[in-house]
Amino acid sequence: MPRLAVLGYPVGHSRSPAMHSAALAELGLGEELSYEAIEVAPDAFEARVRAMPGEDFAGANVTVPHKGAALSLADELSETAREIGAANTLVFADGEIRAENTDAEGFLRSLPGSPAGKRALVLGAGGAARAIVWALLREGAEVEVWNRTELRSQNLCEELGGKVVGAPDQTAYELIVNTTAVGLGGEDPFAELPLSAEAFGSSRTVVDMVYGSGPTALLRAADAANATTVDGIEILVQQGALSLEIWTGRPAPLETMRAAARG
Ligand code: ATR
Repeated sequence: MPRLAVLGYPVGHSRSPAMHSAALAELGLGEELSYEAIEVAPDAFEARVRAMPGEDFAGANVTVPHKGAALSLADELSETAREIGAANTLVFADGEIRAENTDAEGFLRSLPGSPAGKRALVLGAGGAARAIVWALLREGAEVEVWNRTELRSQNLCEELGGKVVGAPDQTAYELIVNTTAVGLGGEDPFAELPLSAEAFGSSRTVVDMVYGSGPTALLRAADAANATTVDGIEILVQQGALSLEIWTGRPAPLETMRAAARG
């Protein structure tokens, strides 16, 4: 039976196997395609991927920390993956490895409305931030990037566009996106990030890519201020749906994926 997988390090916490398995069952493809998690360390990543087509894999999702390596080893890149500089989706077909990026489009679909013309603050300058900055600029948002290590936000903006900001005025943005790992290990976002729990306004949209078993401290504060919130699970669902559509050519069952991802 053809297989799909998510490759990460670590990958045990991933909601992708539950989400994709539920989707495949809903599409009636449960007997034709399977989806599993594979933990692979960075130094073993390339060899693992190159072996996959011979092991009946049709495709894979790629997550932290392999998104850059996935791009480098592919034979063919989508325009989006090349421009962002990272791939989260691989397709194995006709003896070739094709790399795509569905993170950017998945993020845009998770937003309550178009970011065109809006002033947006992106926190972080890692792989996740690249896809977000690229997506927001493509849609015509005005993007500013803050990062703890400013050299990285400078490099990101030089490559992709956007403006580096050292001390952002939180009240000036209609959209705030946290792409940093802050909150993942229980860190206090209001101690580590240039944000104050009291300064979210009701007209703002706040996105936190970090997800855990419940709303993050960042989103709880935004919600308490009546801002619109988008969590990391919704972005996971939207990027996963787009990957599934690439592999199967079928519309993804979003509600089923959402329910399974939220477990
Ligand atoms: P990813 O691919 O998920 O974006 P990454 O490339 O490791 O992962 O990037 C992690 C991001 O979280 C970086 O922007 C990092 O800031 P630095 O570039 O200064 O390291 C940010 N980050 C992690 N821990 C942080 C903390 N305690 N405070 C502020 N930013 C933090």
